[in-house]
Amino acid sequence: MAKKLSRDHELITYHRPKSPFAEAYRTLRTNLGFASVDHSYRSILVSSTSPQDGKSTTIANLAVTLAQAGNRVMLLDCDLRKPVLHHIFKVDNHRGVTNCLMHQVTIEEVAHEGVVENLTLVTSGPIPPNPAEMLGSERTRSLWPALLEKYDYVLIDAPPVLAVADASILASQVDGVILVVRYAATRYDLAKKAKEQLLNANANIIGVVLNQFKMEAKEYQYYYYYSRDSSSDTSSLKL
Ligand SMILES: Nc1ncnc2c1ncn2[C@@H]1O[C@H](COP(=O)(O)OP(=O)(O)OP(=O)(O)O)[C@@H](O)[C@H]1O
Ligand SMILES: [Mg+2]
Repeated sequence: MAKKLSRDHELITYHRPKSPFAEAYRTLRTNLGFASVDHSYRSILVSSTSPQDGKSTTIANLAVTLAQAGNRVMLLDCDLRKPVLHHIFKVDNHRGVTNCLMHQVTIEEVAHEGVVENLTLVTSGPIPPNPAEMLGSERTRSLWPALLEKYDYVLIDAPPVLAVADASILASQVDGVILVVRYAATRYDLAKKAKEQLLNANANIIGVVLNQFKMEAKEYQYYYYYSRDSSSDTSSLKL
């Protein structure tokens, strides 16, 4: 049984699955499917150039959308500096990724199963003094193949690329990276720098998500015509 969730604006795919915003995440899921024609992209990292671009919001909603399509999904909070997935999904963060990396527990022991049907969440756990070192360890590298035996998708939240090395370290370990770009905020030169940094780390950049795009009212009505849901409080939402 799925838990009752709040923070509606962040987990829009769960609370408002018929909204145009949820539809945008389904388009992302579809595009991920198209990208996977030649390569298998099952372990995926989401990052961006700078703080607050919407990485965690994007990966949480992508995880819900993939789970809603019947995929077995594991979402891990590997932002070991400013973790938020436990807030978005309203679960505790006493133990998580860091405990597992320190060999204190198995991943199964700290997993929050069924936060949404088909979706298992592993929160960050306590914030360590040496996140980059932990994320570059053999223990971390060996986690992904083991998880991919059990899950169709393993999604990883990470800090911004340009701020710390963590995202680049993780990017080299996964099948693909999605870069979030914030509408009217992300600087072109910084996005280019982040891309170069990821490519230098041997990352496979699958694509870019344009977040917080401000849709014109008339475009919005057009989309909503096909998918009206019960609530009308949508004016403050941006995607
Ligand atoms: N599409 C969106 N529409 C409205 N608000 C959004 C959207 N995406 C993100 N936000 C809001 O922007 C803020 C930052 O989002 P989020 O935590 O996902 O960013 P982040 O890139 O993960 O940040 P950090 O760098 O701190 O990890 C949050 O308050 C979130 O609710
Ligand atoms: Mg975040």
